[in-house]
Amino acid sequence: MTNLLFIGDIFASPGRTIVARYLRDIVAAEKIDLAIANVENAAGGFGITPQLADELFGFGLNVLTTGNHVWDKREIYDYFPRQPRLLRPANYVEELPGAGLIVVKARNGVECAVMNLQGRVYMPTIDCPFRKADSLLASIPESVKVRFVDFHAEVTSEKVTMGWYLDGRVSGVVGTHTHIPTADTRILPNGTAYQTDAGMTGPYHGVIGVDKEIILQRFLTQMPVRMEAARHGAELHSVIIEVDETTGKATAVRRFTVS
Ligand code: FE2
Repeated sequence: MTNLLFIGDIFASPGRTIVARYLRDIVAAEKIDLAIANVENAAGGFGITPQLADELFGFGLNVLTTGNHVWDKREIYDYFPRQPRLLRPANYVEELPGAGLIVVKARNGVECAVMNLQGRVYMPTIDCPFRKADSLLASIPESVKVRFVDFHAEVTSEKVTMGWYLDGRVSGVVGTHTHIPTADTRILPNGTAYQTDAGMTGPYHGVIGVDKEIILQRFLTQMPVRMEAARHGAELHSVIIEVDETTGKATAVRRFTVS
């Protein structure tokens, strides 16, 4: 069996700190073979920098995924060619830096494919994530059975549809971006582990990571505000998927939370 850990959107310093504190213990206690996390909000809520990416790899994460905020910090653009284990959504245009697929060897020696896709409903109008998923899957060697997808999308319907679309073709599809963990964790009929959103790993004493007073003012006045990360209530939200590497099918899936 191959155990995948997927940590939901690491948000700012509270998110990074809780990962630094607990990741190694989780990996040891849960016998994790590959640790993946979405890091598009790691730098103060907006994007990721080379230094923070290196720091997160140093904590024991093996592959980092992202989303629409990946482009927020320009210094990350040149980092992509140096570090292919940092992904960006595959369905942005090819000309942009980075890639949305990597095949890596897990701790148990099993080769695993990690893919990063992004939805289009209430999101930037990029290429079709469903067709892009098809082309990514076609490019992965048949021998690589363990396949994971981070689908970074806003609406639940688009995410659920992706789960059904990929059922039986990948080991797991877990959503990110909304920062709210969902309770629909299950294995779909053809063996794909699924959860609509992993939830945020960051400060829950706020509004999806941001200081709650700032967001309250925005709702009350409809005026632009300067976003600032919330500081308190750090929680870690993740999904652990057990995969049979001979078939690529998930045999167990559960939420794993530190709060
Ligand atoms: Fe996002």
